[in-house]
Amino acid sequence: MADIDFAAWGDDFVADPYPYYAKLRATGPVHLAIHPNGNRLRMIVGHEEARAALADPRFSKDWRTHGDWEFSGNPVNANMLESDPPHHTRLRKLVVREFTPRRIEALGPRVQQITDELLDTMLDSPHGAGDLIDAFAFPLPMTVICELLGVPDLDRDIFRKWSNEIVAPTEPTVHSEAMGAMSDYLAELIEDKRSTAPGDDLMSALIRTRHEDGDRLSRDELIGMAFLLLVAGHETTVNLIANGVRALLDHPDQLAALRADMSLLDNAVEEMLRYDGPVEAATYRFTVEPVEVAGTVIEAGESVLVVLAAADRDPARFPESDRFDIRREAQGHLAFGHGIHYCLGAPLARLEGRIAVRALLERCPDLALDPDGGAYDWIPGLLMRGVRRLPVRW
Ligand code: HEM
Repeated sequence: MADIDFAAWGDDFVADPYPYYAKLRATGPVHLAIHPNGNRLRMIVGHEEARAALADPRFSKDWRTHGDWEFSGNPVNANMLESDPPHHTRLRKLVVREFTPRRIEALGPRVQQITDELLDTMLDSPHGAGDLIDAFAFPLPMTVICELLGVPDLDRDIFRKWSNEIVAPTEPTVHSEAMGAMSDYLAELIEDKRSTAPGDDLMSALIRTRHEDGDRLSRDELIGMAFLLLVAGHETTVNLIANGVRALLDHPDQLAALRADMSLLDNAVEEMLRYDGPVEAATYRFTVEPVEVAGTVIEAGESVLVVLAAADRDPARFPESDRFDIRREAQGHLAFGHGIHYCLGAPLARLEGRIAVRALLERCPDLALDPDGGAYDWIPGLLMRGVRRLPVRW
C-alpha cells in the first residue's frame, strides 16, 4: 500500500477533498499517510470503521502517556478531549449539566436576540454585500460562548487570531507562539475573574470548584477547560453556518425547497453537517495495543486520524452520498464524533445553526454568493473544513 502524501496533493485537495477520499474509500477503509509535517499516520475513511474506532478505548487520546509528537505540555492541552477515563470522565462531568438539551433550549431567546442584532447591523450596510463570516457566522457563536462562560470582555480579535492558528497551523513556530500566548491570556483572564466579583456563570463555577476542591480541577485543567470550550465553542459553529449557507447557495433547488417549507430546517442542518461538516477529521488518536481494522493491523503506538468528512460521504452508509439533499435521512452522521468524546456542544451548535439559517433566509430573500468576491481562501490542515471569508450579497 503506497503512503498518501498530503503535501503532494496540494491546494486541490484542500479546496475539495471529497474526490480524494472517494478514491481512498474505494480501495479500502484504512490507509497509511504522510502528514505535511513529515509524520506517518493511519487514516480511517470508511463510515462503519470510523464509527467503531471512535468508540474503541484502544484508540487513546491521552498524549501524556505516550512518547509522542503532539503533546506540547502546554496547559491548554490539559482538557477532556486530550484525556482518557478516568480523567476524561471527571472533567466532562464538571460541565456536562450545562450542556443538556433542556439547558441549551432555554438559551434560544438570547441566541435569537444576538442573531437579530447582528443581522440588523449587517443589513444596515449601504453596500448590500459583505463577508458573511465576519458580519455574522463568527460573532454569533463567539458572543454566545463568551456569555455562557461569563467572559464578555474577551478580546475577540486577538483570540480569533490565535484560535485560527491553533486549529489550522500555518507554521510550527507561529503555532507554538499562538499556544503560548493563548495559555498566558487565559491564565490572566481566569485570575482577573477570580479577583473580581464572581458571578453565576460557568467560568465562575469552575473557579469555585478549583478553589474549594483543587483535587477535582488543577490550575492547568482550568485553563484547558476554558481553552477547549472557547475554541470548540466557536471555530466549529462558524463553519456550520458558513459551509451550510454555501451548500444552500450552491444548490438553488435545495434552497428553494427550504424557503418553501421551513419545517425541513432541522433536517437541512443535519444534512449540512453530513455533507460538508466543520470538522474534517477527528483529533488524533493513538493505539495502545495492536488493533485490527477491516483486515489491516494498526500496530501499538501508531497515530490515527479518523476522517469524519470521508466517513460521512461513504455510499455504503449514505446512498448517493455526494448529493446535497435536505430531505434525506442524514441522522447517524459523524460530524459531532462518536463515543465518549461525542461533542459536548452538539445541542448548542444545532440551536445556533437552526436559528442562524432561518433568520438569514427570512431576512435576506435575495441572498446569493457574491460573484465579485474572489476565489475562496480555504482553511488549511485536516482538522477544520471551511473558508476564511464568504462574500455574499443580500
Ligand atoms: C457545528 C459545530 C460543532 C461541531 C461540528 C463539533 C464537532 C466536534 C467533534 C467532531 C468532536 C469530537 C472530536 C474527537 O473525537 O476527536 C467534538 C468534541 C467536543 N466539542 Fe464540539 N463541535 C461543534 C460545536 C461545539 C460547541 C458549540 C461546543 C461548546 C461548548 C463544543 C464543545 C466540544 C467539546 C468540549 C468537545 C470534547 C468532548 C469530550 O472530549 O468529551 N463543540 N466536537
